[in-house]
Parts: sequence; structure tokens; C-alpha cells
Amino acid sequence: MEIDFSTLNKEASYKLITGAVVPRPIAWITSGIEPGRINLAPFSAFTFVSTYPPMLGFNCGAREGLRKDTSRNIHAHGEYVIHIADQPLLEALHLSSEHHPPDVSEVELLGLETVPSTVIRTPRLARAPISLECKLSEVLSFGNKGNEFFVGAVVRMHIRDDLYRDGKIDARSLNPVCRIGGPTYASLGDVFSLKPVKP
Ligand SMILES: Cc1cc2nc3c(=O)[nH]c(=O)nc-3n(C[C@H](O)[C@H](O)[C@H](O)COP(=O)(O)O)c2cc1C
Repeated sequence: MEIDFSTLNKEASYKLITGAVVPRPIAWITSGIEPGRINLAPFSAFTFVSTYPPMLGFNCGAREGLRKDTSRNIHAHGEYVIHIADQPLLEALHLSSEHHPPDVSEVELLGLETVPSTVIRTPRLARAPISLECKLSEVLSFGNKGNEFFVGAVVRMHIRDDLYRDGKIDARSLNPVCRIGGPTYASLGDVFSLKPVKP
């Protein structure tokens, strides 16, 4: 099978690209600064773009030609928190992807507890095993369908104590969720190590 993307529409292209880049980590993002109106949504077009300085990037598409709440909040305030969710949080993460009007807080709707962040105004989720407070660095636009790639500097990281060992994070104990596509997710399968080589 050989694919020429110039023959495909937006949906068909989406299915193939997201089906090829699997599994994807998920950035579970709180945005906004007003108490009672904090927005929450998952984004799996997510990676780091630099480790020193630490910087994370994620892609936010448009909804019916308009910016999603997360995008609008970040453009307005320049601050947000990226959380890494574990298996017990999967259902809440999934439900937080449902579209609600901007004045509805998914955090309130799902009854999730928040705690103040240290450096930024947007609060973070108390139960998340990892939270990364971010300040917006730049937004890159791609194509003409409203895709925006947000790059943020990590200004503070919070890690649940039991996950942190010798300056590293124990992936098994973290038990992160990742996305395959649509409502399909995966967890860590076998974890194994090979003989180290010089990179
Ligand atoms: C696991 C998961 C990952 C998602 N990843 C993305 C993504 O990378 N980019 C995107 O624009 N939407 C993504 N979505 C859809 C958004 O979460 C959804 O549009 C959400 O309603 C946006 O919320 P907001 O309008 O409150 O920002 C994803 C949905 C799920 C369930």
C-alpha cells in the first residue's frame, strides 16, 4: 500500500498520521486563571522539544474553525500546567475531552481537586503523579486549518515522591496512560533493557 496524501481529505489524513505515530504520550492540560473556570483537556500530539532548558510542545487543532478553550486560555494568559496521568485517572482524562462551552470547567464538572501552582497562576491537579508548570514561549501555526503548536518552558515540576529515585522517574510505578486513537488507549507493556551503546 502506498499513500499519496494529496488525494486525501482532512479526516483520512488525520486517521493515517495519528495511526502511524503510536503510542502517544498525553499532555493533560489545565489552563485559565479564574477560580471555578479552570479548563481541562487532553492533547496527545505532545513531546518535549528541548530538555535543557526543559521545554514541551503540543499541538492544538481548531474546532469548527475556532480556537479550542485551551488555545484561547493560553493565548490570553501565557501559562498552563501539563499533567501526566496514570491508569486510575484515565476515565477522568477521557471525559475531560468532551466539548463544553468556555464557561464550563471540566475540573469542576469531574470533581477533580486542584492545588495552587508554585510559579504560575493556573492551578494544577492534586491527584496527578506528575505536573509541569509551563510558561508559553512561542506558538507556531501550520497549514490553513487552524493547527497551532504551543511551545512552553517548564518553570516547575512536581513529582509524586514514590516515583522519584536517584534523579530519575520510575516508569513502571508511574504507570502512564497513552493514546492509540479515538477512545482507544494503552498502558506500558513489557519494559526491558538492552546492552547500552554510545549514542
Ligand atoms: C486522549 C486524547 C488526546 C487528544 N489529543 C488532541 C490533540 O493532540 N490536539 C487536539 O487539538 N485535540 C486533541 N484531543 C481532543 C481535545 O481534547 C478536545 O477537542 C477537547 O474538547 C478540547 O478541549 P477545550 O476546548 O476545553 O480546549 C484529544 C482527545 C483525547 C481524548
